[in-house]
Amino acid sequence: MAGNRMGRRDFVAKSVAAGVGAWAASGNARVLGAADRVRLGLIGAGARGLDLVRQTLEAPNTELIAVADVYTRRHDEARNLVPGVRAFRDHRQLLDLKDVDAVLVASPLHCHARHFLDTVAAGKDLYCEKTMTWSIAEADACRQAAAKSDRVVQIGLQHVSTGAFADAKQWLRDGLVGKVASVESWMSRNTPRGVGQWVRPVPSDCTAATVAWDAFLNGRPARPFDGFAFINWRLFWEFSGGNVTENMVHQMSWIMGLLDLPLPTAASMSGGIFSEKDRREVPDTIAVTFEFPTDLVVTWQSTFSNSHYGLGERVLGSHGTIERLSGSTDMVTGRLTSGVHYYPEPANRANGEAITGRAPDGNHMATFLDCVRSRRRPNAPVELGYRTAVAAHMANLAYRARQRITLEDALSSSGR
Ligand SMILES: NC(=O)c1ccc[n+]([C@@H]2O[C@H](COP(=O)([O-])OP(=O)(O)OC[C@H]3O[C@@H](n4cnc5c(N)ncnc54)[C@H](O)[C@@H]3O)[C@@H](O)[C@H]2O)c1
Repeated sequence: MAGNRMGRRDFVAKSVAAGVGAWAASGNARVLGAADRVRLGLIGAGARGLDLVRQTLEAPNTELIAVADVYTRRHDEARNLVPGVRAFRDHRQLLDLKDVDAVLVASPLHCHARHFLDTVAAGKDLYCEKTMTWSIAEADACRQAAAKSDRVVQIGLQHVSTGAFADAKQWLRDGLVGKVASVESWMSRNTPRGVGQWVRPVPSDCTAATVAWDAFLNGRPARPFDGFAFINWRLFWEFSGGNVTENMVHQMSWIMGLLDLPLPTAASMSGGIFSEKDRREVPDTIAVTFEFPTDLVVTWQSTFSNSHYGLGERVLGSHGTIERLSGSTDMVTGRLTSGVHYYPEPANRANGEAITGRAPDGNHMATFLDCVRSRRRPNAPVELGYRTAVAAHMANLAYRARQRITLEDALSSSGR
C-alpha cells in the first residue's frame, strides 16, 4: 500500500502540474444574451457523452459544434447523432475553436482534471461529469482554477436537480426533521452470474491504430495497448475510483447538498471483490462510514450481486424521517417504489402527518445551459463537486489502507 500511495502521489503531482500549465487562457468567451444559441463541444464521446448530447438536443437553441475523443469509432457515433459535427482526437484542437462557448466533459475519471483545467483556461464554460476528479490533489487544482475564473461550471451530479431534493430541502427548512445524527444510504445492482457489473465487450475495431492510447493513459506509465482496460477503465484504480466515484458520489451529493455538510472529518471503508473475480481491481461489495463534524454519521452500502433494494437514502431525524427510494421493486406486486416521503417521529411530532413529495424534477442540463446565458451559479457548482470528490477519495484511501482515515491524513497523503 505504501508503495502504491507514493506512486499515486508522484503521478498526481505530475498530472496536476501538467494540466495547470498546459493551456494558455485565450480569453475568447462570447457574451451570450438570454435568447442566444449556445454552441457546445464534447470531450469524451462515449456512452455518457452521447447521452449528454441527446439531452442538449432536446434543449432549445443549442448546437453541438465539435467532439474530441481518442477513439475514432466515437467520431462516427457522434456524427450519426449530429451529422457534420467536427471531430478531433486531441481535445486541445476542440478548445482552440473560437465558436465553442461551452464544453461537456465525459471522459474517463482519470482524464477529468486535465479536461476541466484546459477547458476553463481556454475560456469556455464547463459541464464536467462526476466525480469531479480522480484524486484530492486534482480536486484542489480544479477548485482553485474555477475560483480564479469567471466561467460557469456545473458538475454532473444531477440528483440535486430532482424534485425529491427540492421537497426534502423544504421539509428541513420547515423544521419537520429535527436533529439529524444519522443518515443511511445504499445502492445495489445485479448481473447474471459470470458477468461482472460494468464489463463491456471490446469492439473488434478497438486497436492501437484507432485509439490514441498514450492520450488515454494521460501520464500513467507507458505500456502496450490494452483494449480491455481502455473500454473497461472503471475496473482499474489507475483510471477509476470504483463504485464510490461512480455511484456513491451521486448519493453523497444529495445528502451533503441537502444537509449543507462540510467535508467529513473521517472515513472508513471495508469490502472487497466478492461478486465476480474478473480482472477488476476495485471492490464490488462496499460498506462506507463517514463521520461529519456536525455530530453526524453517514453510511453507504453497496453490492453488485443483489438488486432487491435498489438505491436509496434515509435521513433519520429526531422529529421525522426523509426516505428517498429509487428503483426498488416490490417483488409481490411488481410495483416500482420510488419517490420521496416524510414520516413524523411520534416522540417529537405526535400529531405530525406523513407527506409524499410532489415537486417536479428539474433538468440538470437545461439549468446549465440557462446559466451559460444568464451567468448564474448552477445548482451543482464546483464547491459541491469538490466536497463530494474529497469524500469519495477519503473512502477509497481508507479502503486501500485498510484503516480509518482522517481528513487531515487524506489531505496530507494527497500532497497538501
Ligand atoms: N452523471 C451520470 O449519471 C453518469 C452516468 C454515466 C457515466 N458518467 C460519467 O461519465 C464519464 C464517462 O463514462 P462513460 O460510461 O461514458 O465512459 P466511456 O468509456 O463509454 O466513454 C469515455 C469516452 O472518453 C474517451 N476518452 C478516453 N480518454 C480520452 C481523452 N484523453 N480525451 C478524449 N477522449 C477520451 C473514450 O474513447 C470514450 O469514448 C465518467 O466519468 C462517468 O463516471 C456519469
